[in-house]
Amino acid sequence: MDLSDLRVNGERLRASLEEMAKIGATPGGGVQRLTLSDEDKRARDLFVGRLEEIDLEVTVDEMGNIFGRRPGKNDELPPVFSGSHIDSQPKGGRFDGILGVMGALEVMRTLHENNVQTERPVLIVDWTNEEGSRFAPAMVASGVWAGKLDRDWAYSRTDRDGKVFGEELERIGYKGSAPAKAWPFHAYYELHIEQGPVLESIGKTIGIPKGILCLHWYDVYIEGKANQVGPTPMEGRNDALCAAAEMILAVQSVPARMGGNMVATVGEIQNYPNSRNIIPDGVHFTVDIRSWDDHLAINAWEQLKIDFQAAAGKNGCPIRFEETWRVEHTPFAEKLVGLLAQKAEALGYSSHHMVSGAGHDASYMNMLGDAAMIFIPSIGGRSHVEVENSTWEDCESGANVLLHCMIESANEV
Ligand code: GLV
Ligand code: MN
Ligand code: MN
Repeated sequence: MDLSDLRVNGERLRASLEEMAKIGATPGGGVQRLTLSDEDKRARDLFVGRLEEIDLEVTVDEMGNIFGRRPGKNDELPPVFSGSHIDSQPKGGRFDGILGVMGALEVMRTLHENNVQTERPVLIVDWTNEEGSRFAPAMVASGVWAGKLDRDWAYSRTDRDGKVFGEELERIGYKGSAPAKAWPFHAYYELHIEQGPVLESIGKTIGIPKGILCLHWYDVYIEGKANQVGPTPMEGRNDALCAAAEMILAVQSVPARMGGNMVATVGEIQNYPNSRNIIPDGVHFTVDIRSWDDHLAINAWEQLKIDFQAAAGKNGCPIRFEETWRVEHTPFAEKLVGLLAQKAEALGYSSHHMVSGAGHDASYMNMLGDAAMIFIPSIGGRSHVEVENSTWEDCESGANVLLHCMIESANEV
C-alpha cells in the first residue's frame, strides 16, 4: 500500500482515551491519577496489556518508565519513539499526557494491522511522574533517563503524607530492572493538547511548538510564632501566613516588574497548624517561574529572594528556600519542526507555529537528540482542570500527523 494513504483509526483512539478516562474518573468529568497511586497502577496495567496485544516487546526500567518496542528492518539502528505520561494532576483532565500515550498506541496499532515494516525500530513510552504535583519535580523519570537528574535523589522524594517515591514505585510493582539510562535515538515525538487558548482562538488544528519555556521550581518555608489569636495584640506578632501573603503578591507582580515575557505562580501552600484561632507558625509554599529567557527567570528569582527577605524581616519570621528544580528552555530540532509542518499540510490540516508554556518530557529528550511536539486545540484554553477537553476529530488529526512523522523518521537510514 502507498504509505501516504495510511490513517489512524479515530474511533479506536477515542475508545482507548475513554477507557483510560474511567481510571480515576472524578465526579466533575476529569481524572485523578496521581503518580504511583493505585489508579496509576491500574492504568499502567491496562497500557501494558494493550502493548502485549500487538506483540510489542515491553520493558519497565528502574524509574517505572514503560517502553514497548517494535523491531525495524535494520534493528540495530537508533529507534524513533513517542509517548507522554499516564499520570494526572489532582482533579486533572482526560487528555493531558494520556493523549500522547494513546496517540502513540494508535500509531503502533496502525503500523501493526497494516504490517508496515519500518527501517528503524519504533518505540512507545509512558514516562513516570511527568506532573510532579504529588512528588516534585515534574518530568523526573525522563530527567533521570536523560542523565540530568539523579536516580537516588528521585527515589528519595516524598509526598505531603511523607510517602517515599522509591517505595511507592515498588509498591505498585513498577520498579523495573532495566537501567533508566538513555540509549541513542533518531527522533522523539510527543503529541499533546495545547493547554492554552491560541489554537482555538485562531481556528487552527495543529500547533507546532518551536520549543518549551524554561521551568524553575522553588520551595519556601517560613517560621512564625504560634499564639492564641484573642489575647495576643496585633503589634509584635510573628504571623507566618501574613509574611507569606506579602511574598505571594511579590511573585504575582514579578513578571511585570522584570519586563520581558515571563509567568510566575504560587500554586501550593501549607499553613500550620491551620486553625482559625491560632496565629500561624509555619508556612510552606511553592514558586513556579517560566520564560523563554532563562536569565530573566533567574533574575526574577534573585529579585524575589530580596522581596522575601524584606517581608520576612518585617514580620519577624525567619525563612528558608530550596531551589528545587530547573530545566532550561529548549528549542526543538528544526528538522522535525519542518517535517511536522510538511506532514500537517500534506494531510490537509491547518497549522500554527507557537511555543509551549507547559512543561513536557520532550524537554529532556531534546537535550539528547532530535525532539518535537504536536499540539491540538484545548477547548476554552482550559487544562489541569476537570473540564479540560478537546474534540475527537482533533485528537485523530494530531495522531495522523504523529503517524506520518514517525513513519518518515523511521524510514530514514
Ligand atoms: C506540566 O504539566 C507543567 O507544569 O507544565
Ligand atoms: Mn502533560
Ligand atoms: Mn500536566
